[in-house]
Amino acid sequence: MSAANDTSACLIGIDIGTSGTKSALFAADGTPVASHTAEYPMAQPANGWAEQDPQHWWNAVCEGLRAVLAQAGAREIAGIGLSGQMHGLVMLDAGGNVLRPSIIWCDQRTEAEVADMDRLIGHEKIIRITANPPMTGFTAAKILWVQKNEPQVYERCAHILLPKDYIRYKLTGEFATEVSDASGMQLMDVPARTWSGELLSSFHIDSAWLPKIYESQEITGTVHADAAKETGLPAGTPVVGGAADNAAAAVGTGVVMAGKAFTTIGSSAVIYAVSDEVKIDLAGRVHTLCASVPGKWTVMSCTQGAGLSLKWLRDNVCTQETINAEKRGVDPYVLMDDMAEALPIGANRLLFLPYLMGERSPHPDPDCRGVFFGLSAMHGRAELIRAVMEGVAYSQLECLNVFREMGVPVDDMVLTGGGAKSPFWAQMLADLYGVPVSALAQDEGAAGGAALLAATGIGLYKDLAEACEAAVKRGKTLTPDKERSAQYAPFFELYKKLYPDLTEDFRTLSSL
Ligand code: XUL
Repeated sequence: MSAANDTSACLIGIDIGTSGTKSALFAADGTPVASHTAEYPMAQPANGWAEQDPQHWWNAVCEGLRAVLAQAGAREIAGIGLSGQMHGLVMLDAGGNVLRPSIIWCDQRTEAEVADMDRLIGHEKIIRITANPPMTGFTAAKILWVQKNEPQVYERCAHILLPKDYIRYKLTGEFATEVSDASGMQLMDVPARTWSGELLSSFHIDSAWLPKIYESQEITGTVHADAAKETGLPAGTPVVGGAADNAAAAVGTGVVMAGKAFTTIGSSAVIYAVSDEVKIDLAGRVHTLCASVPGKWTVMSCTQGAGLSLKWLRDNVCTQETINAEKRGVDPYVLMDDMAEALPIGANRLLFLPYLMGERSPHPDPDCRGVFFGLSAMHGRAELIRAVMEGVAYSQLECLNVFREMGVPVDDMVLTGGGAKSPFWAQMLADLYGVPVSALAQDEGAAGGAALLAATGIGLYKDLAEACEAAVKRGKTLTPDKERSAQYAPFFELYKKLYPDLTEDFRTLSSL
């Protein structure tokens, strides 16, 4: 059948990322048909702050949908799944207008509010209800920051949404969310998968402001006529809950049952493992959230500045590599990779702590900042690149070791995200983790997972396991090399020591 006559059902996955929004069209078996990414900026109005304009997300969604629908031919758009960056605060007034820029996931301004949360509720109780200690990056602390610092905004608030759920509102007019993203707001009773009335009343947050919570694959509404006009979508198309970017990526990588895990290296780096029970790290080194699979939870770590650190190096230091790459018609990261790979393990005795945006896992600390340790006059850009890649990888190993300590088994690791494009980085992770690390044959990221949630929600598959079985295909598997693992070990030991050694100094620096 020619594409023009193909009337088969296809699905759309939309991922509201930090650097851009990906809109993608997939056949029911997960085969990609068309994809478009529209970028936008992130504002940093103060050190440690991070904001985005929700209108930029919506513009990117409209642009992306128009671009992919132009390639849909006669195919039926059977359903839409949304995914997006977690924890961002979107506040709307009673007319549905955005009240202030969204305070997004990597913003770290809320240290005082986290202390307020402890005082109001008690540390242990917050952990018992939300499965996490109070976190600067999670949404509740951001709401309390606006309550305290922008009362004129707070008093006009009528709706609170997460980034992807704002897009749902624009598409369907519904105020709805789903368990995987909602559990990162720190307002939910995570074991019960519902809002916590107790937390809401203690924080003086009106429960009517919060969206209805669905399971990730449930249909939450349909595209309304105005959105259809703006995006080119057929009115009436069902929109399922979808999932937080990491929970959607879990579906897209086939991580829907215990024992399986993935690492994604995007702006942040995440390790995500599925668990049949609610397992909590009392020290808050990793997060416990609802999985996008009904009746399952997840343990997840988040390194705030992973790909972000390498991008920072590319943009601020590797100007020459960027010029050379342009001349050769390749990505600058390819050249940076080659330079790093040519060096010995340990980057000629240079270590990097990837705390450019503060840190969450395994050191929840908004005050820490990036460090090159051991810088010498003999070092050049290649050492900086290798040290950054190793530092991000050491941070992943520190996190995985917390999972192991908690008794969350990981015997199968998939690597995804922009970082997975580097075979060198992938091998480094396999050597450090000591477990095989697999690529995907096709890495469609969170948008792919969101589309599979839509396929399941509209009944094309009986459940997510069946959808993953049909759609997720593995690529190459890299096995760990014992000799290299042993060479990394002393550098990792020193890396682990640096954060505790510097903790007080970070605090002093932040107070200067
Ligand atoms: C996870 C987290 C990040 C964002 C970025 O807790 O904050 O992974 O979702 O996309």
